[in-house]
Amino acid sequence: MPLLTVSNLQKRFNLEAGFFASLGRFVYAVNGVSFSIGKNETYGLVGESGCGKTTTARLLVRMYEADEGQILFCAPSAESAEIDVLRLKGKALRQYRKKVKYVFQDPARSLNPRMKVYDILTSGARWSLDKGERKYLKEEAASILEETGLQKADLERRPVEFSGGQRQRISIARGLLMKPDLLICDEVVSALDVSIQGQILNLLQDIRSKREIAFLFIAHDLRVACYFCDRIGVMYRGELMEEAPAAELYKTGYHPYTELLFSSVVGRGAPRPGEEERVNPKSGAGCTFYTRCPYGEKRCRETHPPLIEAAPNHLVRCFRQK
Ligand SMILES: Nc1ncnc2c1ncn2[C@@H]1O[C@H](COP(=O)(O)OP(=O)(O)OP(=O)(O)O)[C@@H](O)[C@H]1O
Ligand SMILES: [Mg+2]
Repeated sequence: MPLLTVSNLQKRFNLEAGFFASLGRFVYAVNGVSFSIGKNETYGLVGESGCGKTTTARLLVRMYEADEGQILFCAPSAESAEIDVLRLKGKALRQYRKKVKYVFQDPARSLNPRMKVYDILTSGARWSLDKGERKYLKEEAASILEETGLQKADLERRPVEFSGGQRQRISIARGLLMKPDLLICDEVVSALDVSIQGQILNLLQDIRSKREIAFLFIAHDLRVACYFCDRIGVMYRGELMEEAPAAELYKTGYHPYTELLFSSVVGRGAPRPGEEERVNPKSGAGCTFYTRCPYGEKRCRETHPPLIEAAPNHLVRCFRQK
């Protein structure tokens, strides 16, 4: 059984506030997304800015509440049945959040500049542990920091004293402290220089080889994701357009959007879709990629393509077959 199974996940945001909220202009940030992550697997979620990657991640750790869908979590160690994540409350939710950790997209903003690294690493953990466990927290924090390439003495320093890459290491250390089963890495390398990106990717590789851990690796760069992940889901405007093992996607990506992601430098630098375009219709009114697709035809405009199995373990949301 997979570690995490996501089915038909949906989250929409109202584009207006107050009185105008009743106008019902929504952006469907996550629109019927389904995927699973196996134990010790690295699953990549890739797509341009605004396609819904962070929203998906936040739904997984219940920072946002889903409008619809189901998330099942099956801890590798537990004998018990799977957990219905969207129904968790109180202590059970806190327990789950120890097992599924989210490394934020923006380390500059997610690390409190006034706190020492020790407090940053342990502030979440301290109140969820009992007294006996707390005694070892300092040792644990020091050892995690060393594992991520910093030093014990760095526990006493503050985020401003570190470079961007080092700050990202601190974020990763914070994510690892509770020995999670799944670490969600939201664009952990995107804001860094290419050489530093390589170092952080190497660090994640090391962590992966030493620990029993699964990753949800979120990126807008499909090449980086193909290098690092076992399987990849390509997202466009809230929907999964293609899913395949990374090596296969790299060799034979089917979807025109996947092609586009490989062939051009889209992502960070690309303009965000305009407000009108953001108000994506709920599925039903044709393919969401139609307006940008070089192969679009009449049925693409009229019918919403379902996600079909183009090859074993290879799903694609496109009428056109290669
Ligand atoms: N709290 C929010 N309120 C309103 N709209 C939101 C909110 N969070 C996200 N959105 C909208 O939902 C869509 C998906 O955003 P999301 O941040 O999930 O994208 P992303 O793929 O993580 O993008 P990026 O690569 O820029 O991080 C965007 O159109 C965004 O503007
Ligand atoms: Mg994001």
